[in-house]
Amino acid sequence: MEYTFRNKVVIVTGASSGIGEQIALLFAKHEALLSLVGRDENNLMAVVEQCEELSGSRPLAILADLATEEGCQRVATNTILNFGRIDILINNAGISCRSTLQTANMADFDQVFNLNVRSVYNLTRLVVQEIIKTKGNIVNISSISGTKVTIGSLPYSMTKAAINHFTRLTALELAPHGVRVNAVLPGFTVSRLVIRMTNYTHKEYKSWINEAKSVVPMGDVCLGEDIAYAVVHLASEYSRLVTGAFLTVDGGALYGDLGNILKKQLVRGYAHAV
Ligand SMILES: NC(=O)c1ccc[n+]([C@@H]2O[C@H](COP(=O)([O-])OP(=O)(O)OC[C@H]3O[C@@H](n4cnc5c(N)ncnc54)[C@H](OP(=O)(O)O)[C@@H]3O)[C@@H](O)[C@H]2O)c1
Repeated sequence: MEYTFRNKVVIVTGASSGIGEQIALLFAKHEALLSLVGRDENNLMAVVEQCEELSGSRPLAILADLATEEGCQRVATNTILNFGRIDILINNAGISCRSTLQTANMADFDQVFNLNVRSVYNLTRLVVQEIIKTKGNIVNISSISGTKVTIGSLPYSMTKAAINHFTRLTALELAPHGVRVNAVLPGFTVSRLVIRMTNYTHKEYKSWINEAKSVVPMGDVCLGEDIAYAVVHLASEYSRLVTGAFLTVDGGALYGDLGNILKKQLVRGYAHAV
């Protein structure tokens, strides 16, 4: 199976780290023209350099806080100004937060919903007419947390449940325009997400990841590239009639007993979004 995204303009949000970085690299390998979004300039530029080496064309780097109106607007405007078209949108940027109703505060709720839901809604809205013109597609990075119920995953899981329904609703609305909308649902994946939220040291994170492996039915956690393969496949021509679909990449974690693994991150009070 040969993927090609030659002359296709792909926006990847959260391309400066973790899953988004691997998505950007895989699209670059398949010759996409990339618009990469992040906040950390050093990390984003490092990904830009690697993508350029792989694809031969330099990605557009957009430093933007997607939790702001201005940030979303800048991504849409700069991509169109630079490339003149948009084919594919990968809504990947996200943050996590573990709490319970009894420990919750509204500032964290707002922060997580603002990025994980509002910015996805807003950016998609801002680029949809361009994607309709190219009969392109959208892939949302959701999570198994959007379906699975575990203690300690409020309010993050609620944001991913919202993204799942956003995927269904927009898939139906955009199907007559030839635009597909799908979601990938990662399970435990090595990235900076948990470290950001918990402030774990490298050693603590490694030990948590090992524990996570032990509760995944297939005995392993995902790497960013495992998620990227699923994203690229859904965005490709091989999925031309796939829309409103959910592709879980989790080694079986959705169906496994995750025990207290998420609850553990509540021991420090609770784990904030950062
Ligand atoms: N890791 C997992 O186990 C897991 C499991 C299921 C789903 N997911 C989902 O996968 C997606 C990617 O997460 P990850 O695991 O790769 O985490 P990560 O390594 O922390 O990467 C998160 C990315 O989002 C960007 N970002 C965060 N806040 C932003 C903002 N306000 N504006 C613009 N960009 C922002 C970050 O940019 P900067 O670093 O430049 O700030 C970074 O590029 C998220 O939607 C997450 O919910 C992850």
